[in-house]
Amino acid sequence: MNDLLLRALRSEPVERPPVWFMRQAGRYLPEYLQTRSGTDFLTFCRSPELAAEVTLQPLRRFPFDASIVFNDILVPPAAMGLDLRFEDKRGPVFRDPIRHPSDLARLKIPSVQRDMPEVLETIRLLIPQLDVPLFGFAGAPFTLAAYMIEGGGAKELENVKGFMWRYPEEFSRLLTLLSDVVIDYLNAQIEAGCAAVQLFDTWAGGLDPQDYARFAAPAARRVFEQVKGAPALYYCRDSAAVLPALKGLGADAYAFDWRIDLGTARAVLGTDVPVMGNLDPVALYGPEEVIREKVREVIQRAGPTGHIFNIGHGLTPGTPVEGVAAAVDEVRRWRW
Ligand code: CP3
Repeated sequence: MNDLLLRALRSEPVERPPVWFMRQAGRYLPEYLQTRSGTDFLTFCRSPELAAEVTLQPLRRFPFDASIVFNDILVPPAAMGLDLRFEDKRGPVFRDPIRHPSDLARLKIPSVQRDMPEVLETIRLLIPQLDVPLFGFAGAPFTLAAYMIEGGGAKELENVKGFMWRYPEEFSRLLTLLSDVVIDYLNAQIEAGCAAVQLFDTWAGGLDPQDYARFAAPAARRVFEQVKGAPALYYCRDSAAVLPALKGLGADAYAFDWRIDLGTARAVLGTDVPVMGNLDPVALYGPEEVIREKVREVIQRAGPTGHIFNIGHGLTPGTPVEGVAAAVDEVRRWRW
């Protein structure tokens, strides 16, 4: 078993950083498009054979040091009773978003075994086929609440901020409910065989530092306090402004997007705290020499211990396969 990832997460000496990419399974791979064609996205996530197959696809092409179970962060809100569709141009859409505290009564508390057993089956199918650690994951409470209140992706977060400021107590109650769901969900994925888990807080970077500290941070902290048995990572997009607050979350490592220098992040977090990131995924569209140079820069900025190489956000559908290959190859050539 390749244990580079787990060694880096313990800040042990490594000859080079481990490498994997967020959304390494996805539409930039022709074989993904083929397996995915004809099945609606949510059904696809809930089909263990198909989800296991596309989890393995990137590992057949590239020598990644970790895999991530194929699924989506919006599966739990769907299991809580919200009507979720993935629409071709718009992405995820909830037909019946939460807009008023009275809507909270519609939410069911799901049981992982009863309402989301498919992800556990996908993990069990994968474990015997893998020689790298498998990540499980979930959306962070604030990010899940943002989708459930906005009804979909929403840059300005008008509805979720409106709800949060108008009904702060009810909003905190929703975050606590979501953190309980996420805790059960991640612990079940660890029990099924995941070697690490990641909490995706994609939208929390849109909050000002006070609201981040008041709402998003305590809900994420609650998750890290109660997830047991495997290292847990925290990813927040656009987290430069809330960097000082990250340390108190209690995650085992923090993932960053490309807008922040990893050296700066480590100076604030302390160099004993492992970090993950943070190549701009769009750099993979660039000329090979630029890709390779940027990879080396990221590794230099992160330093020799406690660094997991990744991109700063998920791979986009148009990413050239050769760009991914060049970046992975450059990480694997590195020697400290
Ligand atoms: O990393 C992996 O390979 C595992 C798979 C994975 C997916 N979604 C598959 C997916 C993971 C880790 C996610 C997490 C996820 N999902 C996040 C957090 C990370 C991030 O990107 O910020 C978020 C916010 C979502 C919600 C979501 N799911 C959106 C906004 C979209 C549509 C956007 C888009 O890229 O089209 C999805 C759909 C989705 N989830 C796809 C994939 C491969 C594309 C759908 C398809 O195949 O048609």
